[in-house]
Amino acid sequence: MIELRNHKAKEKFSQKHLVTLLDYSKDEILQVLSVGLNIKEKFKAGIQVDHLKGQSLAMIFTKSSTRTRVSFEMGTVQMGGFPMFLSSNDIQLGRGETIADTAGVLSRMVNGIMIRTYAHSDVEDLAKYGTIPVINGLTDWVHPCQALADIMTFYEYKGNLSGKKLAFFGDGNNVCHSLMVICAKLGIDFAVAYPEGHAPDPKVVEASLACAKESGATITLTNDPLVAVAGADAVYTDVWASMGQEKEFLARKAKLENYAVTEELFGKAKPDAIFLHCLPAHRGEEVAAAVIDGPRSAIFDEAENRMHAQKGLMAMLMSGKSYEELMK
Ligand code: CP
Ligand code: NVA
Repeated sequence: MIELRNHKAKEKFSQKHLVTLLDYSKDEILQVLSVGLNIKEKFKAGIQVDHLKGQSLAMIFTKSSTRTRVSFEMGTVQMGGFPMFLSSNDIQLGRGETIADTAGVLSRMVNGIMIRTYAHSDVEDLAKYGTIPVINGLTDWVHPCQALADIMTFYEYKGNLSGKKLAFFGDGNNVCHSLMVICAKLGIDFAVAYPEGHAPDPKVVEASLACAKESGATITLTNDPLVAVAGADAVYTDVWASMGQEKEFLARKAKLENYAVTEELFGKAKPDAIFLHCLPAHRGEEVAAAVIDGPRSAIFDEAENRMHAQKGLMAMLMSGKSYEELMK
């Protein structure tokens, strides 16, 4: 059962960071999402919360971003905190200062760090060498904040998600990894259809299968889009070339174009299935314009939920308040 409006915490929230959702229990994920939804509903009713009053968030970017930057920046401001955008072009990290020294220095001056970067190990090192919460805003390996927003959106559209199915098409990339993990943990059936050479990381698959055993979710890996799409309640895709892979675009396109979410493929999911995409998207490549701009596309709710889910996350990691206090 997934109930984000009245979720009763079963465990004490013990997380200090969000490096990967593999570190989180089902209950901890549900706590983050429930607090996020609670803050969202207050926000929509015009009620302000000040869970980050007097706190600051350093946001390090070594890759481009629209949603991640704006959602963290506005989410921090809306909770009474101060966000600080740090591009690697401008800070000494970009000139070779170590992650360890950056972590040590920022820990003396701010209250939390969000980082978007290439190497996942950089996020692990920030968490290891710093003394403040570290949040992963995307690495080459995973995109956990995106998965939180995706599940919040899926929940808002479908209610209790137990036994529902999310199908992902294309590259077994960072977004695919975090979706597989969150579905496995929460008991949501997950299928991914990919061509040879684009399988998700076996380490993520193995860990997800272990979680799925516990939650009762099924994880399907297939080269056949028709297998993945059958019975899907949500259809998801992402770009063919992720940030840093631009030069490989043509080779990737040749293999991934058979996995595009066309109108025909989307038509084979459940009739009320929604379409999700982390964005940015390329119409006519991984998804047809008629699907992403169609009546069952939830992309802008999904993008907005980046902000709400992350407010829940920051409140849990940085406010010093308990789950019960944050749910008031
Ligand atoms: N979905 C997402 O992370 O978008 P940005 O790259 O714009 O942050
Ligand atoms: N897989 C994409 C996601 C962007 C939000 C990338 O890493 O570029």
